[in-house]
Amino acid sequence: MSVLVTGGAGYIGSHMVLALMDRGEEVVVLDNLSTGHKWAVPQSANLVVGEAGDEKLVGQLIKHYKIDAIAHFAGSIVVPDSVTDPLGYYHNNTVTSRALMAAAIAGGVQNFIFSSTAAVYGAAKSNPIGEDADLAPISPYGSSKMMTEIMLQDAAAAHDFRYTALRYFNVAGADPKGRSGQSTPRATHLIKMAAQTALGDRPRLDIFGTDYDTPDGTCVRDYIHVTDLAAAHLQALDRLRGGGDSVVLNCGYGRGFSVRDVIAAVEKAAQTKINVREAPRRAGDPPALVAGVEAIFKTLNWSPAHDDLDEIAASALAWECHLRSLDHAA
Ligand code: UFG
Repeated sequence: MSVLVTGGAGYIGSHMVLALMDRGEEVVVLDNLSTGHKWAVPQSANLVVGEAGDEKLVGQLIKHYKIDAIAHFAGSIVVPDSVTDPLGYYHNNTVTSRALMAAAIAGGVQNFIFSSTAAVYGAAKSNPIGEDADLAPISPYGSSKMMTEIMLQDAAAAHDFRYTALRYFNVAGADPKGRSGQSTPRATHLIKMAAQTALGDRPRLDIFGTDYDTPDGTCVRDYIHVTDLAAAHLQALDRLRGGGDSVVLNCGYGRGFSVRDVIAAVEKAAQTKINVREAPRRAGDPPALVAGVEAIFKTLNWSPAHDDLDEIAASALAWECHLRSLDHAA
């Protein structure tokens, strides 16, 4: 019995691999290394470099490694890129997911965990957002994930196949043991950008919009520590293996922090002031996105251990320091 983790060399996938291996599971990572890193995969995991959408390859892996569950992280995640390259995003996210699901069903894999996103909601009408809110993505990225959710629902109705779709809110932070973190060179996410600015790798940090209808005028998000997110995946896996039915769950803590709160937390961790510039709003940013978390707590035996913005900021900063030391050593 082993778990296939697509995108296991990437940011969130690599934390899932660590969580699985920490509890003694056999893991097969399938990653094309387009944005992931070979070094992010522990040597004791089986790394296969290839496409998650390669049905034949996945079929072979299922047989060879006796895979009983798939956690599907592979995909493209940069929202603005999805606007300029929608078909690339529908290919990497939707078409690939379809092929992976087909291989899973053909190979008799009944348990499937899918990395979905809060982007399926678009601009929330109210917060916190429950899973039953209207789905109204405002980017091809969000649409590509929503379409996969629809395919999962239909496939689960037709086949001996159950899934958990986890709608991630703002994932941040790094493995507390320093084994992995957000390593994408082109990352645009606030906490990583703030950490890089604090370390002097960027001249300044833009605050995109200070005139939102929020407590301090900047956007509010529900930041979740990547290690807690991986733990939610383990619980989802156990539930599916135990025969649990298909379900869609928000993944967040149910509380929001503003851009200024985040900057303050990174400044505290770095013990330095960050050079910020108040910039115009970024296109497509909803003012506030906070997860409704009743369902996840009711459904999964999940007890987050890192619900602390200071800890999230400190771990992200520590990881950024680690990446710099690798750069300097190279
Ligand atoms: N922000 C800044 N300056 C920066 C970077 C970000 O002010 O340099 C602000 C953004 O405008 C936003 C907040 O910080 O208000 C968070 O932005 P991120 O880019 O970190 O994250 P997003 O909320 O835009 O995106 C996240 C996920 C996406 C997902 C989306 C769902 O990263 O994958 O939530 O809405 F699609």
